[in-house]
Amino acid sequence: MPPLIEAHGLTKKFRQAVKEPGLAGALKHFFVRQYRDKLAVDHIDLAIEPGESVAYLGPNGAGKSTTIKMLTGILVPSSGSLIVNGLVPYEKRQRNARNIGVVFGQRTQLWWDIPVVESFNLARDMYEIPADRYKKNLGEFTEMLGLAEFMNVPAAKISLGQRMRADLCMALLHDPRILYLDEPTIGLDIAVKDSIRKFVRARVEEYGTTVMLTTHDLGDIEDICRRIVIIDNGKIIHDGDLATLKDTYARDRVIHFQLARPAESMAAICQKLPACEVASDGLRLSVRFDRFEHAAGEIAGAVMPLVEVIDFRIDEPEVEDLIRRVYLGQLSLAPGDEPELRSAKPAVVAEA
Ligand SMILES: Nc1ncnc2c1ncn2[C@@H]1O[C@H](COP(=O)(O)OP(=O)(O)O)[C@@H](O)[C@H]1O
Ligand SMILES: [Mg+2]
Repeated sequence: MPPLIEAHGLTKKFRQAVKEPGLAGALKHFFVRQYRDKLAVDHIDLAIEPGESVAYLGPNGAGKSTTIKMLTGILVPSSGSLIVNGLVPYEKRQRNARNIGVVFGQRTQLWWDIPVVESFNLARDMYEIPADRYKKNLGEFTEMLGLAEFMNVPAAKISLGQRMRADLCMALLHDPRILYLDEPTIGLDIAVKDSIRKFVRARVEEYGTTVMLTTHDLGDIEDICRRIVIIDNGKIIHDGDLATLKDTYARDRVIHFQLARPAESMAAICQKLPACEVASDGLRLSVRFDRFEHAAGEIAGAVMPLVEVIDFRIDEPEVEDLIRRVYLGQLSLAPGDEPELRSAKPAVVAEA
């Protein structure tokens, strides 16, 4: 069986106006327009199997939303091939829409002025959802997402958390095989985040729905996703699970030794260790090491005979911190990793 979502060399180039600041810049731009091409998505390869749940992460402007818009058929790729559930999304937008549900955290799919339930009814008509299935789904989703209290309120008057739950309901009423979630929990409180995560996880587990999720929230990733794809500057720089992500980008460990008394020849001791730091009172020695080059026991074994250790502790990198670095665009690879994994800056072409 071919993958449910399959992209080869998928690329989206945007033409962006280049303006110099101020009035002079605006005038100059009026007469001689300057543009440059921005490769928002730069030759990505992606294969997602039915039932997979993928976190699609990267710094702001990395190309996440652009990728999702191509997968949904909203945007036409500049080059490359893309098949979703057997269809080329932008060629068969209507048919593709029946296979997918989409939630954009930044933009609602609900009709603004009419009661929420009326938006759901419109979705029923648009997707030609059979009456009994519609009734069953709406009943279940209302219960699971707690929609009853604002079902008859216009979307313009409900809170962000209510809106997001209603959007999620609307995205799934027609039982799509694929669910795209672009920042679905942004700005929500813990309780709402929790109900959204539970709901999505249940879809994955019970219906085998395939999920692609962009989020800043580690909780979303841990609760929903098995696989993590990271895009930076339009290129995919990581594709694997959370453990592989840690192994690739957070190989460092630190052992802190608590000493009985300051050692005399600290400098000489440190010379024998990978990278060490001594606290100013001389009572703590910290050694940073690459866990693929040294075992913790090996470091401890080297330190113990030289100083009197009363306690020690190993610091593991926090996944939270790792995800934060992904979003700050600060991932750097440890030496010795394949250089092709490093993200390259896209070429900028300026033209008059
Ligand atoms: N319609 C557009 N026209 C021009 N540039 C765009 C357009 N949409 C997105 N971009 C640019 O493409 C890049 C990727 O944007 P986007 O996919 O929204 O990133 P992300 O969702 O990862 O934050 C950014 O540099 C953004 O400015
Ligand atoms: Mg985005």
